[in-house]
Formats: sequence, structure tokens, C-alpha cells
Amino acid sequence: MQNTKHISNQVLVTGAAGFIASRVCEMLLDNGEQVVGLDNMNDYYDVRLKEYRLDKLLKYPNFTFYKADIELLDELRPIFQNHQFRSVFNLAARAGVRYSMINPWIYLRTNAEGVLNLLELMRDFGVKKFIQASTSSLYAGLPMPFTEDLSVNTPTSPYAASKQAAEAFAYTYHKQYGIDVTVLRYFTVFGPGGRPDMAPYRFVKWILEGTPITLYGDGSQSRDFTFVDDIAHGTLLAEKPLGYEIINLGGGNNPVTINQFIEWIEELTGKKAQILYQPVHSADMEYTMANIQKAKDLLNWVPQTDTYAGLKTITDQPEILRFDV
Ligand SMILES: NC(=O)c1ccc[n+]([C@@H]2O[C@H](COP(=O)([O-])OP(=O)(O)OC[C@H]3O[C@@H](n4cnc5c(N)ncnc54)[C@H](O)[C@@H]3O)[C@@H](O)[C@H]2O)c1
Repeated sequence: MQNTKHISNQVLVTGAAGFIASRVCEMLLDNGEQVVGLDNMNDYYDVRLKEYRLDKLLKYPNFTFYKADIELLDELRPIFQNHQFRSVFNLAARAGVRYSMINPWIYLRTNAEGVLNLLELMRDFGVKKFIQASTSSLYAGLPMPFTEDLSVNTPTSPYAASKQAAEAFAYTYHKQYGIDVTVLRYFTVFGPGGRPDMAPYRFVKWILEGTPITLYGDGSQSRDFTFVDDIAHGTLLAEKPLGYEIINLGGGNNPVTINQFIEWIEELTGKKAQILYQPVHSADMEYTMANIQKAKDLLNWVPQTDTYAGLKTITDQPEILRFDV
């Protein structure tokens, strides 16, 4: 019988059926890496979109998938027993800011306890490198451009609070057990196959369909949009040994207002948006702007795709917008 234990040089990617992690997996697989992906396939948004992404990954012979929940240590342990991982890329998360106000408990369980479970198993099984997806939401209310050394002790949503807990646990496991950690704070990630709960997916879909857009605020708020391929590339670069570092991955001092974003979609689709204005949501940030000097210095990373070019990749593939919002 084949012994599958201790196969070296494998990486674990959690949340593999998710928007960003599926792209991270594709890039790793294209580089010839042995990738183990896991995801609990929850129904926070249309599961068929997760299955669509997963189907693409399952075509690679060097990809193995487990349907598993990072909240459950008993589901994770056999995966660590079956594979000897070089690194863990933790991109599994409850990721919507607004929904975290409705059900904060699942954010605590997945985003904090799930991280603790992974770190404990890494300690048990001697896995050396942890890459943790974190968020620009931690910077809410702080002065821009956001730098990594700002004190982020004032999270304004349960989502941000749970991500702060994840960063803190990762630091503790670095200090106590020598796990090498890169925390990546992503800034509004967009691209084809993006999340249906986020504006880029919804706005393009609704404008194409002629469905009115619900816009929270007057559209003057801005985001430092970052294209998913740039984020995935930066995530791969973050696997290098760094000790413990927090690094912004963002568009880089190039925020775009939501009004501009909508105008570009109109231009690219040749259709006019109908807009229903709603009051600003209390958990939403007004502006985001990343200082990305640290990513340049430590990872030699600079984003390659600007927001307009990235938007065009979405409007060019309208079939991926068939999933429910
Ligand atoms: N998309 C963005 O703009 C953005 C910005 C900042 C940070 N992030 C972070 O990047 C990471 C990926 O986000 P995304 O936008 O790809 O979201 P996503 O929801 O598309 O991907 C997350 C995946 O994790 C899975 N998952 C959730 N809970 C799980 C659990 N308990 N066990 C196993 N799998 C679970 C989900 O099923 C999903 O497929 C998250 O950590 C998110 O917080 C995203």
C-alpha cells in the first residue's frame, strides 16, 4: 500500500474555492507546486461559483481537495497527518464586513478560532511558514495612506476585530514556537470570478442586466482597488522567510471613487447605470489608500494592473457573472 504520509514540498491553501485563494492555487499549480486545498463550501454566497472555481482546480493533477472546516480541529488533523506541508496559506475566512454585524459569532469562530487551530497543528506537525490573509478594514478611521506600523486597536466591525485576533494569534505562535509569519493586509480585491457580495461583481452584473444599483452613500467614497492576479502574485512572494511581518498589498496611493468606478463600467459595457442611493452603512470605510513601500522593499512587489484594465477583464467575461448575488 502506498504510504501518503510525509510527502514533502506540499503547501496547504485554505479557502481554496474562494475568490482569492482559487487564484493563488492556480498560480502555485502553474508553477508546478503540489497544492492541497481545503474549503467548507459554505453558502454565504452562491455555492455554484465556489464549485465553478474548484472544478478548474480539480483539473490539475497536482491538486488535492478536502471539504473541511478550519473551525474543527478533528477535520483538520488528518489532513496534516496525510501531508507534510512546507507552508500554510490561510485564506479561508468569513470576509463580508456588513454581514459581520448580523452574525459576529461565525466571524470569531472561523477567523480567530480557525486560525488558532491551524497554528496549533502547524506547531504539532512542524510546519514552518504561515501566510495569513488580513485586511485594510483594520485601518478604519486611521490617517491615510495606511502604513503597517499604525496601531490598529480600534476595529470598527466584528470582521476587523476577528482579523485583528488572527494577527495576534499568529504573532504569539511566531514568538513562542518560531513559526515564520507573513500577514498580508489586502485592499479591496477585484477581478473575474470575484465575490458576489462585493461592488465590482454586483455593479457590472446589474449594469449589464439593466437592474438598478444600490449604492450606499453618494459615491464619493473611494477604494484602493487591487487586481486579483496582483494579490495572488504577492501572496506567493510572501512565502519567503521573514520572521513576523505585516505587509499591505494594495493598489498603492491610487484610490478610485465609486462614482468613477461606475462611469468606467458604463464606458466598458456601453450601458447606463440606474442608481438607488441608500445611507452609508456604519461599518463601511469612507476611503482606503495603501502605502505599499514595505511590499516593494520586502517582496519586490508592485501591482501591475490598474483598476480600469482590471475592470475590463470582468466586462470581457460576462458569463462568470451568471451566479446569484
Ligand atoms: N476580497 C477582498 O477584497 C479582501 C480584502 C481584504 C481581505 N480579504 C481576505 O482575503 C481572504 C479571501 O477572501 P475572498 O474575497 O477570496 O473571500 P471568499 O469568501 O471568496 O473566500 C473565502 C473562502 O473560505 C471558505 N471558508 C469560510 N469559512 C471557512 C471555514 N470555517 N473552513 C473552511 N473554509 C472556509 C469559504 O467557503 C470561501 O470559499 C479572506 O481572508 C478575506 O478576509 C479579502
